[in-house]
Amino acid sequence: MKRTALSQLAQRTTAPPISWLMQAALQQPKLISLAAGFTDNPTLPVHAARVLTQRLLRAPRTAQPALQYGTTAGDPILRELIGQHLREQDGAAAKPRACAADDIVVTHGSQQLLYILTEVLCDTGDIVLVEDPSYFVYLGIMQSHGLVGRGIRMEHDGLDLAHLESVLEGLRARRQLPRLKLLYLVSYFSNPAGTTTSLQKKAAALRLLRRYEREAGHPIYLLEDAAYRELRFAGADIPSALTVDSTDRRVIYTSTFSKPFATGLRVGYGVLPDPVRDAVLRVKGNHDFGTANFLQQLLSQAMASGAYAEQVRTLQQRYAKKARVLTSALRRHLPPSVTWQTPAGGLYVWARLPQHVRTDAKSRLFKAALQNDVLYVPGDLCYATDTARKVPRHEMRLSFGSASLADLAEGAARLGRALQSIGCK
Ligand SMILES: Cc1ncc(COP(=O)(O)O)c(C=O)c1O
Repeated sequence: MKRTALSQLAQRTTAPPISWLMQAALQQPKLISLAAGFTDNPTLPVHAARVLTQRLLRAPRTAQPALQYGTTAGDPILRELIGQHLREQDGAAAKPRACAADDIVVTHGSQQLLYILTEVLCDTGDIVLVEDPSYFVYLGIMQSHGLVGRGIRMEHDGLDLAHLESVLEGLRARRQLPRLKLLYLVSYFSNPAGTTTSLQKKAAALRLLRRYEREAGHPIYLLEDAAYRELRFAGADIPSALTVDSTDRRVIYTSTFSKPFATGLRVGYGVLPDPVRDAVLRVKGNHDFGTANFLQQLLSQAMASGAYAEQVRTLQQRYAKKARVLTSALRRHLPPSVTWQTPAGGLYVWARLPQHVRTDAKSRLFKAALQNDVLYVPGDLCYATDTARKVPRHEMRLSFGSASLADLAEGAARLGRALQSIGCK
């Protein structure tokens, strides 16, 4: 007799590493968490949300549809506004008729969309190319579905194209291309490394994937996750991969209202090519047949009234300041052997330590950090299981999202003490 009624997926799925990190934070009240992916509390749009909610509920004409079920694809007005917003972001580079409301699906956070996309594109044993390092919750989805991850090395301006090509060549040589479904790219101020991929590299990656499609026997998609695109506080925006997509469309674009507006709303969206869009809608129909309508109507109001744009500007200034406070404290307190790139957006600093200084959860440093009441995300958690290379264990993700300005400075000082205590110079 089978010992469990749990499905293979349930048995395979391990607890997300972030859950024990959160647990650690809860158990130690004095702990400063530079690990949490939460956003800044004081700037959450409390006033705007109150005004918009009252406006929405004032008259039955707007209140009733908001409190009713909606459609699986999402509120048509919100999808129209999202399309317009994306065309504005891509500016002159936007393709004519790009981001039509019909191509857009609204989801419960972009996380739900990442999950459904994986479900509709991948079977157990399929291969997904990911950045090295990549977003660890996406790696969790892959692990849960029994997918094989292949890590692509990164350079300061994004993917290492020569490495991408050599991985594709290797798959071709081993006749594994039919199992390759997509390249997952967190293209703006990535989680965890803070890297932004240039438009030239996105275009070149698309061309490369295209070259291997004949032998794969099916389309190979570029899944562009733009969750942090709007949290930019330095430099110019880079057009999305949608602007360099071919007419037979290989780009899947996902983004979210969580980071640039309010994380608690958990509304995300995607621009999906056919036939991916229809498949996503069929599966989403089974998941929940539509994202919370009330929240979508609230966001429509936020976009149409200008409250959304105002919130984005507020957050850009706030995170610019928080990034400055964290990096200047790191400069002051961390030994010169620890390096990082100054963030131009997003929520993260990716710190590299000397090769021999381990940062993983079993390391002396991690324990010393906890003893000093500071928490970071061990870098090794952000690497796909890929036997073609060793997982680096000398990096850490530090977030300036949720900690206060005072805690960012104090957290860096504590980290400095932890490093000193293990003799890192
Ligand atoms: C890279 C990336 N993509 C997607 C998400 C999902 O966010 P949400 O589901 O809130 O849209 C996150 C959340 O942290 C993220 O870091």
